[in-house]
Amino acid sequence: MLSSCSQSALSRQVEEAIHSYLDTLRYTGMDWMRWMEEVEAAKQQFAKLINASPEEIAVLSSVSDSASSVASALDFTGQRNQIVTTEMDFPSIGHVWQAQERKGAQVRFIPSQDQMIPLAYYNQAVGEQTLITSVPHVSYYNGFKQDLQKIASIVHEKGSYLFVDAYQSAGSVDIDVKAANIDFLAAGTQKYLLGIPGIAFLYVKKEVAEKLEPAVTGWFGRTNPFAFDIKCLDYAQGARRFETGTPPMINGYAAHAALRLLNEIGVEKIESYLGELSEKAVQYAGEKGLTVVSPHDRSQKASNTAIYVPEASKAEILLRERGIIVSARNDVIRIAPHFYNTEQEVMTAIDALAELTVRL
Ligand SMILES: Cc1ncc(COP(=O)(O)O)c(C=O)c1O
Repeated sequence: MLSSCSQSALSRQVEEAIHSYLDTLRYTGMDWMRWMEEVEAAKQQFAKLINASPEEIAVLSSVSDSASSVASALDFTGQRNQIVTTEMDFPSIGHVWQAQERKGAQVRFIPSQDQMIPLAYYNQAVGEQTLITSVPHVSYYNGFKQDLQKIASIVHEKGSYLFVDAYQSAGSVDIDVKAANIDFLAAGTQKYLLGIPGIAFLYVKKEVAEKLEPAVTGWFGRTNPFAFDIKCLDYAQGARRFETGTPPMINGYAAHAALRLLNEIGVEKIESYLGELSEKAVQYAGEKGLTVVSPHDRSQKASNTAIYVPEASKAEILLRERGIIVSARNDVIRIAPHFYNTEQEVMTAIDALAELTVRL
């Protein structure tokens, strides 16, 4: 299974966690306290993973929801009404930003060059009118990895917030939100975080959270959700004010188990191993005559090695028939190993792809 950029493999720990949620339904019927504890524990593990405090993490249902929640807290009616984003962002994120145009926002897309974004482009695009800059840490398309610390320093100098979509990096690339000085960062658990869809974490820097009041809201964004006071629209301290309704419970169980496992192994170790696999994948695909559309320099890419295949979706199906699970996007097959994959598995997938491309 080399599809961690789409869905990572099921661990015993995650499977057991899902069963234990089902057990609460079967044997207790309703167990809010226990469910909330699991979601809270997942939040703590995510905070640890990115070097944040748990009070800086909100639990939502998707990365798209997280971006919408952030957007709903921003005021686009003043002079500073620009959103800078990139053509390498996941489409959903671009959709969320464009939907803010009806509220006065102006969206500017930074283009890519050779499937990468030079740092100078940020210098050129972000200006005095930029309210927020949104970037993917790692591209879903080709694994291109950006230097968040450098981007943060460019955008902050211009007075812009920085929103990072870390869905393709969290769990495979070490993230330190403090060292990189990030304002907002979102990630779900389905990909390198070893979990399932339906839950996402939104980091909001403490000083930033206290200044914002999201319009996308609900009872879990209140100081005391269980006060059941319909007229009290107060905002909880910290990132929790970005939460909305009942948290995804079964997903919280899975996320807690998955994140604990990752923290036990250590993402730094995983990143270094994946760097080796990634280097090998680029080199071997080249030897096999395949066109790699990921950066060739290991320091600029994460686990995903994207290989150009004209009929990528068909190739994904044909590889699956041979027991090789990879994931297609547009015109590429993404070979995205995790720590449980071997170099041999990566090479076997590339061999099979090379054979197929002759026929496709
Ligand atoms: C980088 C990136 N961001 C966002 C998303 C979408 O996330 P969600 O469905 O949780 O909104 C994906 C999904 O593949 C992704 O790869």
